[in-house]
Amino acid sequence: MEFSKVIAARHSVRQFQDKAVDREIVDAILDQTQTAPSSKNSRSSAFVVVDDKDMLEALSEMRTYGSALLKGAACAVVVLGDTTKTDLWIENAAISATYIQLCATNLGLGSCWVHVNGRLRDHKDPSKGLAEDYVRDLLGLKEAFKPLCIVALGYEA
Ligand SMILES: Cc1cc2nc3c(=O)[nH]c(=O)nc-3n(C[C@H](O)[C@H](O)[C@H](O)COP(=O)(O)O)c2cc1C
Repeated sequence: MEFSKVIAARHSVRQFQDKAVDREIVDAILDQTQTAPSSKNSRSSAFVVVDDKDMLEALSEMRTYGSALLKGAACAVVVLGDTTKTDLWIENAAISATYIQLCATNLGLGSCWVHVNGRLRDHKDPSKGLAEDYVRDLLGLKEAFKPLCIVALGYEA
């Protein structure tokens, strides 16, 4: 797709068709995302692809607001930053997530950014803890890797 058309077409998609996304398409998105700029070429972003329905449902319960759409996604990319590589891992991860969304649009997929970093699981009840810790436990993430966001992917309903 022409670049200006990709930019114009990208929008947040929160409802998806019940149709799988080929792994080759997800791999192409991630390959293209690896070309993103990063501070001092630190390349601190890392990605976990989730397409297991039970895991997507569990991720959708990460927060009481704003994450439910993950349940209906065909897959999701958890965007992580390796905090040992740079103090600018958030900036790098945000650029990576943006690339994922634009590449997804270019390949005919819908996407939505679901935020993790700094968010409470329940903004009315801080005792329920952080979304980040929930995602870390669910995916068994090492301490060095912090999740910035999860990009839901799928064919728009
Ligand atoms: C940093 C950031 C955090 C976001 N967090 C969420 C979220 O947790 N849940 C959600 O449904 N959308 C989330 N969004 C999507 C925005 O709501 C959306 O991009 C915005 O409303 C503009 O709509 P558009 O993407 O269709 O242009 C987030 C977007 C960004 C950039």
